[in-house]
Amino acid sequence: MSKIEEVLSHYMEGHHESLIPILQDIQMTEGYLSEETIVRIGSFLRMSTTKIYGLATFYDRFRFYPCGRVHLRICHGTTCFINGSSAVVAAVREALGIEPGQTTRDGRFSYELTACMGGCNEGPMVMVDGEYRTHVRAEDIPEMITKLKAVADLK
Ligand code: FES
Repeated sequence: MSKIEEVLSHYMEGHHESLIPILQDIQMTEGYLSEETIVRIGSFLRMSTTKIYGLATFYDRFRFYPCGRVHLRICHGTTCFINGSSAVVAAVREALGIEPGQTTRDGRFSYELTACMGGCNEGPMVMVDGEYRTHVRAEDIPEMITKLKAVADLK
């Protein structure tokens, strides 16, 4: 049984209210929601894929692409925002040429924006593959990305 079918086996067919829990479970298992997965969920719940995408994209926690080999999480909480996280996000967007939630074509990088990471005094905070970077400034990003390319290439 595939991982998707394993998740679906815990739910009743046709119950629309199971949509969000199913999406959460599959994202937890697979790391993202592929087009094939959305189609399969649509047939399981008897819902249109357009409606599923509409609901899933409303919540910014769902990903529709697999993560890159290096994944950045940029804190966009209030304190980090006040301390310049928007400039950090803009610098990452510029360096990678992708939007939050997307993955670079070469599969090296992906990034997402997150709520407060609990280190407000040390923000803006960026988590790189689970490791915190503190007091990150927009001007740090080009060098950080250059170094991380080498990390991505080793994975
Ligand atoms: S707002 Fe960024 S760590 Fe709290």
